[in-house]
Amino acid sequence: AKRHITVIPEIEMPGHSEEVTSAYPEISCSGKAYTDYDFCAGKEATFTFLQNVLDEVIDLFPSHYIHIGGDEASKGGWHKCADCKKRMESLQLKNVDELQSYFINRIEKYVNQRGRQIIGWDEILEGGITPNATVMSWRGTKGGIEASNRGFDVIMTPTDYCYFDYCQDPRKQESDEPICAFWGDLTFEKVYSFNPTEGLSKEAASHILGAQANVWTEYIPTNEQLEYMIMPRLFSLSEVQWSEMGNKNFERFSDRVRTWGFDMLRAKNFNFRNKPAVTQE
Ligand code: ACM
Repeated sequence: AKRHITVIPEIEMPGHSEEVTSAYPEISCSGKAYTDYDFCAGKEATFTFLQNVLDEVIDLFPSHYIHIGGDEASKGGWHKCADCKKRMESLQLKNVDELQSYFINRIEKYVNQRGRQIIGWDEILEGGITPNATVMSWRGTKGGIEASNRGFDVIMTPTDYCYFDYCQDPRKQESDEPICAFWGDLTFEKVYSFNPTEGLSKEAASHILGAQANVWTEYIPTNEQLEYMIMPRLFSLSEVQWSEMGNKNFERFSDRVRTWGFDMLRAKNFNFRNKPAVTQE
């Protein structure tokens, strides 16, 4: 807060939760540890558990937004689970996408009751979006375009431009990039070319809150490597957000980064990739 930064916690649900269902198998569909990736959407115990977790998180973090994930739920267990089937029958839900929508909706109501607002990945659009949600569009910009056209607030963070766990060198196998990184051609120049409001009406564009870089660290073992993945691409994404699109000029920007930007990073002893202009070999 002293640095005018708001930290928004992400409490992932209903997928990506195998570490939780392993420790608390009673809130998974199978009831067995090391079996399910997702929380059970049929059992009441799941919601009691998550509301308790959210209570603690809300007390710890003053942010207006609480991110509740929503991405990449396999929903595999839900098809076979008696509790999930019962829930779907009683609520007349047609498929597991609608069951996920019920799940997120219920959590959203709870978070709203506590005076906060949810953010979710673009999967929360499937099966019916919840009323006050803000959408993070990561599987491209399609979800963000759809949501902003429907009047929802959106943060654009498509993999092609915003995933800083991808390599920043297009040369692939001969690359001097760290071994531990997703292969990708996400150069400094490509990030700079991103336009978060491309193809949107003025009204829809007003719902784009901004863009976000993601740095998933499962293949990033050290702080030094983390710094390398971030810079100088974060300069590009910052410039994208505070520039008028028509005023962008990559050569001028790249010159400023290689002089002023690199001097600043060196002075701070920051580990960065110092070849921002490399695009094709
Ligand atoms: C994501 O990268 N699964 C949001």
